[in-house]
Order: sequence, then structure tokens, then C-alpha cells
Amino acid sequence: NAAEKGGYEHFMLKEMYEQPKTVRDTLSPRIKDGRIVIEELGMTDEEIASIQKIHIVACGSAYHTGVTNKYIFEGLARIPVEVDVASEFRYRDPILEKGTLVVIISQSGETADTLAALRLAKERGIMTLGIVNVVGSSIAREADKVMYTWAGPEIAVATTKAYSAQLIALYLLAIKFAQVRGKITESETTELITDLKKLPDQIEMLLHNKEKIQRFANRYIAAKDVFFIGRGIDYAISLEGSLKLKEISYIHSEAYAAGELKHGTISLIEDGTLVTAVVTQKDLYKKTISNIVEVRTRGAFVLAITNEENTEIEKAADYVIYLPQTNRYFTNSLAIIPLQLFAYYVAVGKGCDVDKPRNLAKSVTVE
Ligand code: G6P
Repeated sequence: NAAEKGGYEHFMLKEMYEQPKTVRDTLSPRIKDGRIVIEELGMTDEEIASIQKIHIVACGSAYHTGVTNKYIFEGLARIPVEVDVASEFRYRDPILEKGTLVVIISQSGETADTLAALRLAKERGIMTLGIVNVVGSSIAREADKVMYTWAGPEIAVATTKAYSAQLIALYLLAIKFAQVRGKITESETTELITDLKKLPDQIEMLLHNKEKIQRFANRYIAAKDVFFIGRGIDYAISLEGSLKLKEISYIHSEAYAAGELKHGTISLIEDGTLVTAVVTQKDLYKKTISNIVEVRTRGAFVLAITNEENTEIEKAADYVIYLPQTNRYFTNSLAIIPLQLFAYYVAVGKGCDVDKPRNLAKSVTVE
């Protein structure tokens, strides 16, 4: 009912607006005196240093959290990471060697395939860490270690605040691993923590400035196809932006690594096709801008989401949303906000049942 939604039209919108808080709640208990302390890990520095490989397993948006954090673990901690969707992992006889940590990500802690993946890793004698939102859920109970995301109950089927909290939990873990493995200095750690602490206010600001993306979304309620492109970590957030849109608006959407467009998807670009480009990685600005030019030459309309310093992009893109300055590894936490707002307002404009999209369940507990 209306009271439960706290004055918001939908649970999804309410939960989107809770993101500054869920990010803060997931972050602040783990930062003590300017250091990252993840007590629940219960691992000594020697134990962390002995981990040779990380295997992340999850479904849906939680899987996308994993894709993002592969870049971060590898970039910051220089530890190899594999990411799998749980339904693939469990049936492919994965190679799990000693010294591997299996990280299982799940909002509900009850997704059948994800739980089965956890059990498989445990059977093989591999250490498991659950990143879970629901306290006391099956995955929380069965994983060797649990790190909770403090997002609170999530009602809307399409996840928003739990996803944002998952990103934070994994950033913390990646920074911790990087520190212990001696891959980042004290001052780099301090800078990362400073940027982490700014995220809640920055997310708040992006939510506050929703009108620009709302107006834009209203123009695309009749879209047939929407494409999302990006490179590196921007590709990871494109996957989530595309999933949000298709889940709740029923518009066909695809995420593509921008450099891969020319190997197929570019043939689908027609006059007026919407392409959303996420462009937050400075060393890749030029590369993605050249992809923007390629699709625009073929008639695409391009919405770019980029850093506030990258005003150059206005020469190439049709419509630009700017993100405040953060560390290059944390941009997904900001870019997701306009992407969620876009999906939401397109779906509302089409009159869709935003909180309960057809054919989808909040938690898939059967195969
Ligand atoms: C369903 C939900 C998604 C979620 C996925 C994994 O498909 O609709 O929002 O990402 O399950 O759920 P979990 O609870 O394991 O994170």
C-alpha cells in the first residue's frame, strides 16, 4: 500500500532513493580509523595473502556486480578472477584448485542455482564467502564466511539498492586484498577510502537531478531496441543498465563491449536507434568516442554518461549526463543511477507494472 511505499509511486523508486543510505550502511561499519576492517572475514593477513585466485559466482544483477569487480580485483589487487553465472558454473565441472576463494553473491541468499554453486565449491573443499543481503538466508548459513550488504528488505523485483550495496561490499574486499598483497600504498588506500566515503552524497546528488533523465526517458517509451555500450568497467555497468531496462519496460536491449560492436551488433543500428554509451575510463575515452561516431554515422541517437571533465564528448554524442569525480574503479556506483532512472521512467511511461514485471520473480528458488 501507499504507506509502505513511503510516498513514492513504486517500491522500485523508493528503493532507488534509499541507495545513499544503503551504500553508507554497507560502507561505514567497515572503515575504522581510516582503514578497511572486515571483521566477519575472520581471515588473517597471511590467509588473505595465500589466496591465489578468486572465483565469483552469482545470477542476474548479482552476476553483474561480479563482472564489475573482476576489473577491480584484478586492477587493484592483481589477483586473477573468474566470474560465472551460477547455472553455468554448477554444470561445467569447474576447475577449483587449492588457494581459490569462491565468492557467492546473492541478495536473497536463496537463489537455487547460486546455492547449488556454493554447495559444489564446499564439497570440493574450497573456501566460500557469501555476499548476502538477507540475514540468516540459506547462503548466509552455509557459506564459510558471510559479509552482509546492509540494504534492508528489497521489495521491487528489479534490484537497485541491493545491487549498489553489493558493489560496495566487493570494493571493500578488493581494496583489502590489494592492501594485504602490497599492491597499493598507504596513501593510495587513503585516497580510495576518501572517494568511497563521498559516494553516498554523490549518489544523492544524481538522484536529486533526475529531471534531465526523466525527460529523456519520456522520449523513448516507444523504442523497440536499445543498445548499451562501454569498455572495461563501463561494459560491466552497461550489462546492468540493459538488464534493468528489459526487465521492467519489456524493451529489447543488449549490452555490448563497445569495441565488439563492429563484429555484429552494428548491423542492427538504424535511423533513430538509441545507443547509451557509458564513458568513464579516461584511458578509453577516445576509443569509445570513436564507437559513438560509428553508430551515429549509421543514424543512432546517442545518450552518453560520462565524467564531468569529459565535455569533449558533446561533439560526438546527442545527449550527455555527467557524473561527479570519483576513483576510476568506483564509477559504476554513479553511472548506475541515471541508468536505473532511465529504465524506471521508460517503464512508468509505458504503463508497465514496475514493481512486479511479468514472468519474473524476486528470488528464483526453483531451477
Ligand atoms: C532474480 C531477480 C534479480 C536478481 C537475481 C539473483 O532474477 O529478479 O533482481 O539479480 O534473481 O537474485 P539473488 O537474490 O541471488 O541476488
